[in-house]
Amino acid sequence: MPVITKRAVPDFLSPGFVSENDVSTAIAASQFVADDLPADATVRPTLSAAGQIAPDFIAPDHVAIIMDGNGRWAKSRGLPRIAGHREGSRAVRRTVEAAIQAGVSWLTIYAFSSENWRRPAGEILDLTGLLRRYLRSEIAELKQSGVRLRFIGDRGRFDSDIQSDLAAAERDTMANSRLNLTIALSYGARAEIAAAARAALAAVHAGCLDPDDLGEDTFARFLATAGMPDPDLIIRTSGEQRLSNFLLWQAAYAELVFLDVFWPDFDHVHFNAALKEFARRERRFGARND
Ligand code: FPP
Repeated sequence: MPVITKRAVPDFLSPGFVSENDVSTAIAASQFVADDLPADATVRPTLSAAGQIAPDFIAPDHVAIIMDGNGRWAKSRGLPRIAGHREGSRAVRRTVEAAIQAGVSWLTIYAFSSENWRRPAGEILDLTGLLRRYLRSEIAELKQSGVRLRFIGDRGRFDSDIQSDLAAAERDTMANSRLNLTIALSYGARAEIAAAARAALAAVHAGCLDPDDLGEDTFARFLATAGMPDPDLIIRTSGEQRLSNFLLWQAAYAELVFLDVFWPDFDHVHFNAALKEFARRERRFGARND
């Protein structure tokens, strides 16, 4: 039987970003999920004084998201792929708001995989252009909202102006702690693990590390995610059910939730539904609870 307890209702990013209509949709969606829950579970949405909705259960500390389905979203509307990516970046904004609202401390999103460089040059140009615009238009607001930005992945493959913007975004938001937003860019987990192995070996050769001390915790300090908690919940949109080289080491005990929604349509209703599904899961980390 999952243990679901009430959590403190967090304050909100900015008053009024969820409309009344959104609130009723969210209540309907919450009800839908809550119907599956054991009778004694306390999972009910709470309306704040600001007319917004906060989940009434313990949220995972770290949520990671594989944002998938931009292309299919666009295709189903007869639009070019860039339209899906553009709408996808709006969904990123909504998701950051939803994460803050839910009291999630860490949000990691997979925006560009190392394999995405194999896409046609035009699409790469569209995606990097979107990233450039996102960095220039959103950072001030993210900073004001208490979001700390980090980037993982091979940023050296991006144009130098983007690399400067990434560094500036990290520097400008480093004092924030309300939400730790990590964007995976040109990221691949196998490359990350290989790089960590090389760094650990170099430390051994330099005499800074005794190979006998290279356990799991020490090795994790060589990963791009050093200092971050492992994801508790990984969400993938679009109905596909795989990790696609995302956080393979860190996902060891993550709960996986696959949603049948294309990323551009993703909003706080889907986010909260995934959190509710997470709250229902019994996590044993390989041990037994009986
Ligand atoms: C997967 O959809 C999504 C991507 C490859 C890119 C994700 C990018 C965004 C959400 C927008 C930009 C983000 C930021 C942070 C500015 P797909 O193209 O693989 O879709 P498909 O599987 O339906 O073809």
